[in-house]
Parts: sequence; structure tokens; C-alpha cells
Amino acid sequence: MVETSRHDILIVGSGIAGLRAAIEAARISNGKLDIAVITKVQAMRAHSVSAEGGTAAVLYPELGDSLESHMFDTVKGSDYLADQDAVERFVKEMPGEIYQLEHWGLPWSRREDGRIAQRNFGGYTYPRATYAEDKVGFFEMQTLYDTATKYGNISFYQEWFVTSILADGGEFKGVTAIERKSGNFSQILAKAGIIATGGSGRLYSFATYAYSSTPDGMAAAYRAGIPLKDMEFIQFHPSGLIPSGILITEAVRGEGGVLVNKDGERFMKKYAPNKLDLASRDVVSRAMMTEIEEGRGMKDDASGLDYLNLDLSPIGGQKIKERLSQIREIAIKFRGIDPVEAPLPVRPVCHYVMGGIDTDIDGATKLKGLWAAGEAACVSINGANRLGANSTAECLVWGKITGGEAAKYAAARPQASVPGELSALEEKRIFDGIFHGKGGTNPYEVRDALQKEMAKDAFVFRTGDGLSQALRTIRELKQKDFLHCEDKSRVYNTNLSDVLEVEGMLAVAEVVVAGALARTESRGAHFRRDYPGRDDKNWLKHTLAYAGPDGPRLDYSTVAITKYQPAERHY
Ligand code: FUM
Repeated sequence: MVETSRHDILIVGSGIAGLRAAIEAARISNGKLDIAVITKVQAMRAHSVSAEGGTAAVLYPELGDSLESHMFDTVKGSDYLADQDAVERFVKEMPGEIYQLEHWGLPWSRREDGRIAQRNFGGYTYPRATYAEDKVGFFEMQTLYDTATKYGNISFYQEWFVTSILADGGEFKGVTAIERKSGNFSQILAKAGIIATGGSGRLYSFATYAYSSTPDGMAAAYRAGIPLKDMEFIQFHPSGLIPSGILITEAVRGEGGVLVNKDGERFMKKYAPNKLDLASRDVVSRAMMTEIEEGRGMKDDASGLDYLNLDLSPIGGQKIKERLSQIREIAIKFRGIDPVEAPLPVRPVCHYVMGGIDTDIDGATKLKGLWAAGEAACVSINGANRLGANSTAECLVWGKITGGEAAKYAAARPQASVPGELSALEEKRIFDGIFHGKGGTNPYEVRDALQKEMAKDAFVFRTGDGLSQALRTIRELKQKDFLHCEDKSRVYNTNLSDVLEVEGMLAVAEVVVAGALARTESRGAHFRRDYPGRDDKNWLKHTLAYAGPDGPRLDYSTVAITKYQPAERHY
């Protein structure tokens, strides 16, 4: 008999979206609902904590910013694939979230006049990235976690690995999960659920993401029959520090830093004469890869990686120490360079997935009783390319919205129950199939081969041939007998969770590549050398990928265009 616990609402993921959802559900239920947050790491180790540069919101309309402008910048940045009704709701909600965090104690950086400070970020027409030095994620997480612990009805399952979503009769019923500390398998039932498990950037090894950022939540939803949307759009941030890939925030360029090639040339003037280094990320990353391919990059001998320089000298030492102290510390510790004194070697790095679990504008998935929020979800406000500082913002807005929706739903529902055989089957799959399984292929070699393939054929520039090769490689890797576990201990068996992660990575990578191969156009972060133009006639639509026996089945849905007709993008 599988051990069972019950809650009214179960939130999977303890990052900014998950915590914001928990707080909203607790607030509106007035202590009456039992809310649980389950996370595979310790709550404060969710990858949100490493967000650096800013959270976008319109705070100063009297100084020239406007909701209209935030909306337009976001839609243009998305290469017109964002749903404009969702973007409009987003920009309207955001200013309130900044002040709400301030009231909960977040120490935003201040202007000379004492008001909340904002800085420039790529693709914006107004400096609207609200910041707390360059530790925005840390301060947002700290504030949300502190606030969540003030409610008596939010509990945490920390270091539990969710293996599947339980559904019956077309409704969400809960999840199955392994407690990492004991290795025990349980079912956790709930009337309503929210998936807030973040992105899947560890499909690439050169990534700004934590090693834990694997697509477990997306893969569980996909296996449960929920489509993944627009997964072919992967964001490559221009400044991953060589050789680790740790993020050097775009705020560096927002504060005045510039990218230069081996000749010391500020090359962005050729590619984006107006916005220069502050063009949107897809544009800057393509420019950087072009410079490298045309021989104007430099090579890091130790890692073999090509790079360009990010020169912080225009910012000045004082400002770097005051506003960018974290990336200075990172550069010193992880590269041995003090950016006050010398430029930093950087190159495009996997940073974000625009796609995610398909939801409606309220964050509801196609499974009744289940919502998704944050990077795990695709609402979609980011379309084919997200603007910096809109991610932590999206987590706040749709954390709040989904928390409220789930609370209303759960308040009117009876306690969840589920046929016992569902969990028993999952337990058998994991313990008989994987834990006691025998296999000849090393799962870590499978993961490395996948990451190499993604970096080779599903990077900034793509081709049909390359993507076909990537699909073949992924399918071969899926066939290998890697689903087994060498380590037979129960306590903190990271070998078991690593294998489960690789299984989800392969499923989601297949969706990324199948969507990219099918999309015979270039839009936002998806650039096809064999189809270099945007094709609105055939491709102004969202991709939906459903799990099928032989891989993803692709379908498409319409984009909500309300105010802005698609136009050519210039920066
Ligand atoms: O560069 C950065 O600080 C990243 C911000 C973001 O992705 O929103």
C-alpha cells in the first residue's frame, strides 16, 4: 500500500512562481485551505534565487514610461508570437507586484531621491528593470519565503522528487514522489495543483541554470497528456562567463558595459545601430556568433570555447562595486578577473525556455484542477524571444493568478481520492524498472551525448539537416538501456534522481527539436539558416506537442493579436 498524504492545494516547485502562488492561495483562503509546496531541492535553492539583473514594471509614467510601451516592447521582443491579451494583463499587474514586494520587506535599490531605482535592459524603450543591486532573485526569494512562513497553512516538502502527475476522469488528483532523505515513495493527493518547476536549460551543458534545472515538471505534465507549447524557442543569453556559463547579467550592458571583438571593435553597431548592445537577446546572440564564425572572436585554450569580450570600463569602478557586486565577485572567483580592471570573456549561453506547459490566460492547463506558472508554463507572454527582466515578473504575476484560481477551485471541491493502482504502477515503474533494473548504458554518458548534440545542432543557428541529425541522436539515445541505477542505497540516492532527470530531458529535448525542425521559418530565438525569413502567413501560430507512442505529435494554435499587427523588427 503506497503511503498517502492529502492537501487542498499542492504546488510543485518553490521558486518565485511557486512561493508567490502559495502566498496568494493562503491569503485568499484566509487560513482555511491546507497548502503544500513540494520541491526537489531545499526551498531557497530553487534556481530563481540566482536571478540577477531586474524585474520589469512601469513605475514612472510621469517620467515617460507607460503600460502601452512595456506591452509593445514585449510583443516586439517576442517577434509577435506572444499572446497580446496575456501581455496586456501582465504589464497592468506588474507595478502592484513591485510595491507588494517592497511592503513585504524587499530592499529595492534606490534613486538619489529615495524612490525605487530602475535600470536599462535589452529591447526596452525605457529603463524599467527594477533591481536590488544584481541580486534580484536572492532578495525576491528571501522576501517571498519569509512571507510564506508567516502563514500557518503553508507547509513544505523539501527535497522530494515528484515522479508523476496523478489524474483520473480528466481531473488532477495529486502526484507521486520520492522523499530523497529516506528513499520512500508516496502519493500526495490534492484537490488542485500548480506546476512551477522552472525551465529546462540543462538540456545544454553551457547554461546559466543550476544543475537541478532539468525539465522534470514539464516532462511529467507531457506524460500526463498535457501539451507543451512553443518549446523550439530557446533563449541564448549573450553573456555566459567562460568557461562555466555562469550568468553575467545584462544589467552590465544596461549600466554602460559594451561587447567588443578581438580587434576591440564595438561590433553591435553593425547589427543594431540604434539599440547597440541593448538590442533584444536573440539579435545580440546572433551577432556574437556571426563575429565568432567570421574569425573575430578569441579562443579560451583550456575549454576550447570561442568568446568575445564584455568591457565594463565605461561603467566605472565605483558603480560596478555598488550595483554589480555579485557579478564582480563571480568573475573574480570563477575566472580570476576583476571586471573593474579587465574585460570578461563571454559567449551566448542557454538561459531560458520561452515554451512550456500549455496554459490559458489564467494559467490553467488542459487537465482540470491543474495550473502552471513561471518558466515551466507557456501563457504565452514571451513568444519567440523573451525580454530580460520579464521572467521574474511573469513568475510573480502568474504565481499570484494561479494561486488565486487554485484556491477558489479547491475551496469548492471534495477531498481528492484516486484509484490505488495508479500509484502502484508508478512505484513498479521506478523501483522494479529503474532502481532494480539492469542496463548496459551509463546514464551520464547519455546525458552528455544529449547536451553535446543540443549544443551542436539546436543552438543559435539551426538548419534542417542539423535538426534532423539531432532528432536521430535523441531517438537513438532514448532506445539505449540507461534506465537503471548502480547505487542501491535508499538514502539520498542521487543516482536514481539523475536517471529520472535524464529520462525527462530526452523526452523534452525531442519536443524542442521536433518543433524546431517542423518550423520552417526564422522567428525570435529560432533561426533557421535554410529559412532565414519570418513567415507570418504559415507560421504565426503556437506549436503544441502531445506525447505519442513514437514521440511528439505536433499541432498548432492561434496567437492572440489585439493591438499590434506583426511588423519587421529593428533595433
Ligand atoms: O541578465 C540578466 O540579469 C537576466 C535577466 C533575465 O533573464 O530576466
